[in-house]
Amino acid sequence: MKVYIETYGCQMNQYDSSVISFLVKEKGWELVEEWSEAEAILVNTCSVRAHAEHRVLSRLGVWGKYKREKNPSLLLGVMGCMAQKEGKALLERFAFLDLVVGTHRLWDLPALLERAKKERILATESTYQNFPLPKIAAGGVSAFISIMRGCNNFCSYCIVPYVRGRERSRPPEDILEEVKGLVKRGVKEITLLGQNVNSYRGVSLKNSITYDLPDLLKELNEVEGLYRIKFATSHPKDLSAKLIRAVKDCQKVCEYLHVPVQSGSNRILALMNRGYTREDYLNLAKNIRREIPEASITTDIIVGFPTEKEEDFLLTKELMEEIRFDTAYIFKYSPRPHTAAAKLPDDVPREEKEKRLGELLALQKRISQEKGEKLLGKELEVLIERKERDKWLGKTRTHRTVLVESKEKKPGGKDIAGKNLRK
Ligand code: SAH
Ligand code: SF4
Ligand code: F3S
Repeated sequence: MKVYIETYGCQMNQYDSSVISFLVKEKGWELVEEWSEAEAILVNTCSVRAHAEHRVLSRLGVWGKYKREKNPSLLLGVMGCMAQKEGKALLERFAFLDLVVGTHRLWDLPALLERAKKERILATESTYQNFPLPKIAAGGVSAFISIMRGCNNFCSYCIVPYVRGRERSRPPEDILEEVKGLVKRGVKEITLLGQNVNSYRGVSLKNSITYDLPDLLKELNEVEGLYRIKFATSHPKDLSAKLIRAVKDCQKVCEYLHVPVQSGSNRILALMNRGYTREDYLNLAKNIRREIPEASITTDIIVGFPTEKEEDFLLTKELMEEIRFDTAYIFKYSPRPHTAAAKLPDDVPREEKEKRLGELLALQKRISQEKGEKLLGKELEVLIERKERDKWLGKTRTHRTVLVESKEKKPGGKDIAGKNLRK
C-alpha cells in the first residue's frame, strides 16, 4: 500500500508522525510524497487553536472530493489531537472518512489501516498503560525524541490535557536505547520533547529509581558520538535551579531554553492558571542569565485572553522589552471547547487582538534583529541540517538558524559561519 502522511501541530506531532512512518515502512508499505499517488492518506492533526482545525477541514474537503470523483477506493484517515477531541463526530460528519485514530492509539495504526479496508474505524480509547516499545523513527542529523506524553497543568485556555491525557514519562533506559540507536544512524543532535518536559519523572526499569530531567541529561551527556542535546518545552514553574546547573555543566546540552511566559500581567497569569507571577518569571530569567550568560531564552505569548485590558497588554510588552527574548511565538487567543477559559467571555474584539499581535511581532522583530547584529563577525558552531536553495541551513547551539554559503560542506558536518546571513 502507498501511504501519504501530512502533519499539523507541534513537534510532538512531528515525532508521532515519524514513528508512524517507521511502522508503515516496517509493515512493508511505501511512503509517498504526493498525496495524489497514495492509496491511503493520513492526516495528523492539531486542535490547539481554531485556525489549526480549519486548515485540516479544508484539506479533508479537497481529499473527500477527489475520493468521490476520481479514486473511490482511497482510504482516508484522521489521527492525532483533533481525532481524539472529535471522535465519532468526525465519522458522522464526513461520510468519506475511513478511520479516526486518537492520540492514545497511534501505535496501532498499521493494523487499524488494514482493518479500515473492510469497516470504518473509530479508535480513541487507550490500550496502553505506558509508552509502547521505543521505535527508532527519525533519521537525518537532528532528531526529535518524545520522553513524556500528556500534561497535568490545565492552563485555562489550553486543550492539550484533554486531547493528550495525563503525564506519562518514559523509563530512562528506553530513552537511552533510542538515542544510541539514533546516533548509530548518524544523528548528531537530539531534542527531548514533552509538553512540560521539565516535569519529566522516569522510573528506571533496573532499580526503580526516579530520574528527573537533569538526571536524564547527565546520562545522555555521556553518549558517545552525540554532539548536542536540546529539550522543549519548559514550564516556568518547574524550571529548577538543578536543571539550570545541568544545562551549564553538561557540555552537550545546549544553552537554549524555550520557556513560554504567555503574559506579563499577574491578573491574566492567574486567570490562565499558570502558577507563577511576572516577578517569578523575571527572577527565573535573571537566574538563567547569571548562570549561563550566553543562553538564548525563547517564549510563547497569547494576546487577547478574556478580559485582557490595554494595561495588561502593556505589561506584556514591557516584560518583552525587559527580558529581550531571542524569539517569541505570539498567538491570538482562540477559545477551545472543554477548557475553563471557554466559560469566560471572549471579549477582546478581533481587530484589537490583531493590533496587539502586530505590535508584539514588530517589537520582537526589532529585538531579534538587534541580537543578530551583535553576532556579526563572531565565529559560531553551526550544525548543518540541509540544503536550502544554493545555501546550507543549520542551527547554532542557541537554536538560531544560519545560512552558510559553501559548496563543499555536507549535512552533519560542523562548520564555522562567520556571518549570520539570515539577519
Ligand atoms: N506545552 C507547551 C506548549 C503548548 S501549545 C507549554 O506549556 O507552553 C503551544 C502554545 O500555544 C502555548 O504556549 C500557547 O502560547 C499557545 N496556545 C495554547 N492554547 C491556546 C489558545 N487557546 N489560544 C491561543 N494560543 C494558545
Ligand atoms: Fe497547555 Fe499549559 Fe499543558 Fe502547556 S502546560 S500543554 S499550555 S496546559
Ligand atoms: Fe496541537 Fe496536539 Fe500539539 S493540540 S500543539 S498537536 S499536542
